[in-house]
Amino acid sequence: MAQDYVWYQGIPFPIMAYNPEFIKATHEKLVLKDEDIITVAYPKSGTHWLVEVLSLIHSKGDPKWIRSAPMFVRSPWIENESRYIYTVQKKEGPPLLTSHLPIQLFPKSFFTSKAKVIYVIRNPKDVLISGYYFWGSTNLAKKPESLQQYFEWFLQGHVPYGSWFDHVRGWMSMREKKNVLVLSYEQMKKDPRSMIEKICAFLGKALEPGELDLVLENSSFQAMKENKMLNFNNVAVKFIPSDLKIIRKGITGDWKNHFTPAQAQAFEETFQEKMAGLPPELFSWE
Ligand code: A3P
Repeated sequence: MAQDYVWYQGIPFPIMAYNPEFIKATHEKLVLKDEDIITVAYPKSGTHWLVEVLSLIHSKGDPKWIRSAPMFVRSPWIENESRYIYTVQKKEGPPLLTSHLPIQLFPKSFFTSKAKVIYVIRNPKDVLISGYYFWGSTNLAKKPESLQQYFEWFLQGHVPYGSWFDHVRGWMSMREKKNVLVLSYEQMKKDPRSMIEKICAFLGKALEPGELDLVLENSSFQAMKENKMLNFNNVAVKFIPSDLKIIRKGITGDWKNHFTPAQAQAFEETFQEKMAGLPPELFSWE
């Protein structure tokens, strides 16, 4: 039987380029620098969008860099073995890094550093649908036979990077820290300009109004859909079909086009149980 996942400390990782020893070393030994800026998100929450925005803030809206360097070179995944290669390849640009790690596996050095984390949270029902289309089209993870099956796996946390509920609960415990900014996909959709201003304030960067317009324009859904540096051209086709797109539909509430009333109710019950005690204003979606 083909291998479904790489496991580390009870968390299922996608099979390509992940290895338990490397994840352990990332957790225990990777030393983050005070100037590092790490995008952290549960997969399918808007990770690429945020990295595109951060790259553009660095270039003051000029799209040259985002259109010439793949996203995973501009902001390498810390838990992925390719980090070594890409950190060396990345000759220009700010110290951007990316991670999908749950907090208990995040580099220990972070907790005594001034490195900055921006955590993106998204309506888990839309995360579920986005993940169903993405992981189901790859050979990186166990393939569901139906949306109902993936739905059940998602509620149990048997999907890449484990339980959404545990991931978010874990990271929300950091939300008051000075070096952590929490953003939601839904706020980013509603008011992307304010989101960019918020990020700039958090990073201590100032943009001219014209530069901000360019960041906005070049990180729009349409612009990102056309940016070939967000495709999987460099990845082995046996894992990811070359025509699979990360930038898929880019809307809020897509779950309403997919969930049955029974699924919506079951999801709500699990959500209430697992997220009990957290302030409802953290979850700004319908
Ligand atoms: P959908 O599959 O719902 O379209 P991640 O980068 O964490 O894997 O998240 C991918 C999701 O973010 C996809 O969601 C993708 O379309 C969406 N996304 C990426 N860039 C976006 C943008 N500029 N505006 C809106 N959604 C975007």
